[in-house]
Amino acid sequence: MSDQLETLLSEKRRFPTTVEFAARSAATAALYTAGNDWQRFWEDQAKTLEWISPWTQVLDWKPPHAKWFVGGTLNASVNCLDRHLRGPRRNKAALVWEGEPGDRRVLTYWDLARKVGRCANALKRLGVRRGDRVAIYLPMIPEAAIAMLACARMGAVHSVVFGGFSADSLRDRINDAGAVALITADGGYRRGQVQPLKRMADAALADTPSIKHCLVVRRVGDEAGAQMAPGRDHWWHELLERETPACPAEAMDAEDLLFILYTSGTTGKPKGIVHTTGGYLTHVTSTSRHVFDLEDEDVFWCTADVGWVTGHSYVVYGPLANGATVFMYEGAPDWPERDRFWQLIETYGVTIFYTAPTAIRAFMKWGTELPERRDLSTLRLLGTVGEPINPEAWIWYHTHIGKGRCPIVDTWWQTETGGIMITPLPAVVVTKPGSATIPYPGITPELVDGKGEKLAAGGGFLTIAQPWPGMLRTIYGDDDRYREIYWSRFPGRYFTGDGAKLDEDGYWWILGRVDDVLNVAGHRIGTMEVESALVDHPAVAEAAVVGRAHDLKGQALAAFVTLKEGRQASPSLKDELKAHVTVKIGAIARPDDIFFSADLPKTRSGKIMRRLLKDIAEGRALGDTTTLADPAVVNRLKDMYESQEA
Ligand code: WT7
Repeated sequence: MSDQLETLLSEKRRFPTTVEFAARSAATAALYTAGNDWQRFWEDQAKTLEWISPWTQVLDWKPPHAKWFVGGTLNASVNCLDRHLRGPRRNKAALVWEGEPGDRRVLTYWDLARKVGRCANALKRLGVRRGDRVAIYLPMIPEAAIAMLACARMGAVHSVVFGGFSADSLRDRINDAGAVALITADGGYRRGQVQPLKRMADAALADTPSIKHCLVVRRVGDEAGAQMAPGRDHWWHELLERETPACPAEAMDAEDLLFILYTSGTTGKPKGIVHTTGGYLTHVTSTSRHVFDLEDEDVFWCTADVGWVTGHSYVVYGPLANGATVFMYEGAPDWPERDRFWQLIETYGVTIFYTAPTAIRAFMKWGTELPERRDLSTLRLLGTVGEPINPEAWIWYHTHIGKGRCPIVDTWWQTETGGIMITPLPAVVVTKPGSATIPYPGITPELVDGKGEKLAAGGGFLTIAQPWPGMLRTIYGDDDRYREIYWSRFPGRYFTGDGAKLDEDGYWWILGRVDDVLNVAGHRIGTMEVESALVDHPAVAEAAVVGRAHDLKGQALAAFVTLKEGRQASPSLKDELKAHVTVKIGAIARPDDIFFSADLPKTRSGKIMRRLLKDIAEGRALGDTTTLADPAVVNRLKDMYESQEA
């Protein structure tokens, strides 16, 4: 057991909710009672949405396939926009945005609805039809939310690709989904640099036969050096200007696809997670309201990029369906100064702040003077997501950002779950630093041992026993993989891929992935993906990638590489390999360390023993080596590792 894990599990501190919070929150203990009748609970939650026609059946469950709100029709954009236009929210700020250079925009619900309508009309004019897939590759600018909602309005399925992914990654995702259009920007800003998104998109579009049109937002201007291909490429502003803002919303079946979002798994190829309309919207609307205690006066800031599921569920769909004011920021937390986030909270009066442990650990390192010199008194609730939070970071967040007054919601969920699954309700649950606490009402996590036997407490695997509305429906184009990855390890149960501990109070402590998926700075990265990128380089014969513990990022990527005959290991080759991975996948997958080695430790059947490589990378005594084909390899490797510089 690592030191960090030991500290986590010996945590004894308790934080009851504040009196102010308990007195005013709409989410009370009654929700848990309601959640015991889980289908009925979700049906009640679905009733808070606006439906075009009602469902005839709450759930049709033919494991592992669920249909929620069977026969019901609705439109997600109507729920996020139109229904707020009929009352006092019409002139309320929906999106408050600041760009990295300091430019600002505020879009009211009225403004946002008009822009979404124009964009939906423009897509239709380009020939995009209901059910078609549209790829979105944008910086964190309001157009990202507008484009997503426009797809939802006219029935297209969006597939957002994080702007930090490479051209190759974008191409693969476009081709897997067979997207007919791409929405991108000339560029975006990150740490004072222009990210040339359109140039990356052009490289991808050289090899994406399904794409007919590309819509380009002018974010940067001439400096981005965007080239427009006549016939294929169109400026967003020119096209939208010509359209009317009114676009009738398509009546979507509850089970029609709302979006596909690619995520890393245990194979080399990312999988397209499929989410549908009615269940997903029900789940994210309900959790946004209750976990974040969203009220009309709030300014809600979830720092995630819309390229990740957190951005889909808690920047766009969940908060907007609740008629909230969402704050959105384009750039990095340390640009131009390391107090940028605190400055933004002060300037915009942010009341609810939701971020990742990796960011909190960076803030800790940067020191308390930075948050102290800003007024953070508007904050009333803090959230965390993406990886286990170490109690030290939790306490720092509570003390220096929440000033001891703001409850913290540690929310466990996944791209696949669509919305939050394990979390405190802030007015009700006593929190323990490092624990995501208890299941959200209507959610049934269960701990099992390696044989799939249910455990009442202790350590084991985290599974979900009953279907829930926001669950993924399948993997796009590969239902066999869906069955195999999530439902075969423990038949009848959804397997999350996480290990967890359940304590005597019924609190969950998530221990992290038990498969070959790493969590680097809150981003999910498959070891196989990075390995495939490395062996794609002409000098590399074989590669094995493991995660090693890292103070800030949670995990860092360590790659063990053997070279082809005649290729020489050198510091410049290390740099070249790191750059190669950046080109193949994106900077988030760039290995932190690369170690050259003559051999890799393998079992007699030829399987690379990553567990031993992890021991080496973390400087631990080697675990059991008896199953190795050649036990000497690993000792040689350990000696070499200790004498080599990353
Ligand atoms: C994996 C899912 C959906 C949130 C963003 C990441 C880890 C997520 C927590 C948490 C401990 C967490 C798990 C999970 N994770 N939230 N609060 N405590 N671990 O989504 O990229 O699909 O990754 O992130 O390991 O399986 P994702």
